[in-house]
Amino acid sequence: MYTFARCSLKQPSRTLIAVGMVLWPTGLAHRISILGSDSPFTREVERLFVVVLLFSILIVAVVIGGMGYVILRFRHHGRKAMVEEQAPDIPTPAHLETILTVIPLGIVLILFGFTAQSLYSYAQRPANALVVNVTGYQFWWNFNYPEYGLDYPNELVVPQGQAVQIEGTSADVMHVFWPPDLAANINLIPGITNRGWFRADRAGIYYGLCNQICGSSHAWMLFRVVVLPPDEFNAFISEVRNYQAPQPATQSIAQGAQLFAQQCAACHLVQQTSGQQLAGPNLSLFGNRITLGAGRLPNTPENLKRWIANAPGFKPEVRMPAFPRLSNADLDALSAYMLSLKLPGFSYSDPSQR
Ligand code: CUA
Repeated sequence: MYTFARCSLKQPSRTLIAVGMVLWPTGLAHRISILGSDSPFTREVERLFVVVLLFSILIVAVVIGGMGYVILRFRHHGRKAMVEEQAPDIPTPAHLETILTVIPLGIVLILFGFTAQSLYSYAQRPANALVVNVTGYQFWWNFNYPEYGLDYPNELVVPQGQAVQIEGTSADVMHVFWPPDLAANINLIPGITNRGWFRADRAGIYYGLCNQICGSSHAWMLFRVVVLPPDEFNAFISEVRNYQAPQPATQSIAQGAQLFAQQCAACHLVQQTSGQQLAGPNLSLFGNRITLGAGRLPNTPENLKRWIANAPGFKPEVRMPAFPRLSNADLDALSAYMLSLKLPGFSYSDPSQR
């Protein structure tokens, strides 16, 4: 607000910006929340939140009520009287210390019981879970589906209503996998596999982030969870398994494919090849992705050109170098080629889904 107060905007513009700044976080809070009914995890968190909140209200009521009573009861005793008079003789209940110890201890034990119950129920790993190997990289995510031999980086596509078992590790520094609407943090540590699970009970697009400082672009290490109805998920998977990178349909796409082979193929694959992993994300099906640069920008041709030309400008310390020598026509061709790598009929970029 300080910046806006100093700049020379006219009053109506300032008012609009101020209203926008107030409403924007509200909208964001609606989209990302650790409370809610979208997953068993958030339901447990919400249950604990309500229990703790009720006890907190009770404690505040007792403390404020007691203070209020004392203030009103003795309001006629002035400062002078308080110093000179004998303190009033208030009758003290027997065993006061015992009562004041047992009540808080009881509250703590009740909260402990609820928490232990939630932890126990969440620790029960469901059978028939879809296994996804999650690997954190500076600053992107690889989601590998061992059952299907599929790598689909930065967007985790899962079926609605089926448990997803996460097997998480890191390729470099420590990261934390966290889709707040769906699951608890899972620490991704090099050389160690940490496990956790979640289930999304509602179809839609959910936000995810890295929850551990891991370098200059930690804040841009984002992902999406795309939750599809089971039929659509099965259709997606069967299409993916039969996927072949399409033949270039236009001159520009063919030129893009050639440029890709020269400039990009050392770090990026464009075909699912089980087990093979290069330095950068696998880009087969890139045209189906909602975002690029691990959630950095919406996946549009214009953004893709800007990203290829100068990725470090969008994401400091990213491994991908800038390509200042590519002409605008080269960038057009590359972007046309990369966006052509897709399964037709599977577009998830409609934000109204969430
Ligand atoms: Cu990865 Cu922060």
